[in-house]
Amino acid sequence: MKNKVEGVIPEAIVRAARQEPTLRGRVFLCSKRREPLIYEGQIVGFVTPHETTMGWRHGPIFVLPGFRRKGLVQAYYAAHPERLCVAFIPDGNTGSRRMHAAAGFKDWKRGPGGMYMRREPVGTALQVSHMGELHGE
Ligand SMILES: CC(C)(COP(=O)(O)OP(=O)(O)OC[C@H]1O[C@@H](n2cnc3c(N)ncnc32)[C@H](O)[C@@H]1OP(=O)(O)O)[C@@H](O)C(=O)NCCC(=O)NCCS
Repeated sequence: MKNKVEGVIPEAIVRAARQEPTLRGRVFLCSKRREPLIYEGQIVGFVTPHETTMGWRHGPIFVLPGFRRKGLVQAYYAAHPERLCVAFIPDGNTGSRRMHAAAGFKDWKRGPGGMYMRREPVGTALQVSHMGELHGE
């Protein structure tokens, strides 16, 4: 089943992401790639999945400050076990680094000013009705 609110990221969230120091210059006002992260029926952030020659990338990733550390991004990754996932984590973004490690990513290779982390596929595609959604219809 398709998520009812898929693709509709409130502009206020996009604007908040654009103000986030760790994402400066990387969040565009318009993007067709974003998927919402939902907490108790409310869109509180987004991922930006796209497949590359290295694997699936999901950045920019953003969660509103009041909804962080509730497992939303980890739940999104867990909902896509079939994906080979790659993330570039700038040095200094310890929150993102720890989150990716908690989601099963391992250090892969150094890049300019940061580390590429990679998660091998951990299973086959899941039938998930509310992708990335926690707690509620
Ligand atoms: C990084 C970010 C996307 C993480 O999203 P999140 O929904 O809070 O992450 P999750 O709740 O799924 O992951 C939680 C786990 O990741 C780790 N983690 C996440 N943020 C952390 C932080 N600030 N400090 C330490 N560990 C952290 C912990 O292991 C945590 O589990 P715990 O709370 O049980 O200890 C969010 O903090 C954010 O939007 N940051 C600003 C934008 C950004 O930096 N994006 C990534 C760019 S590479």
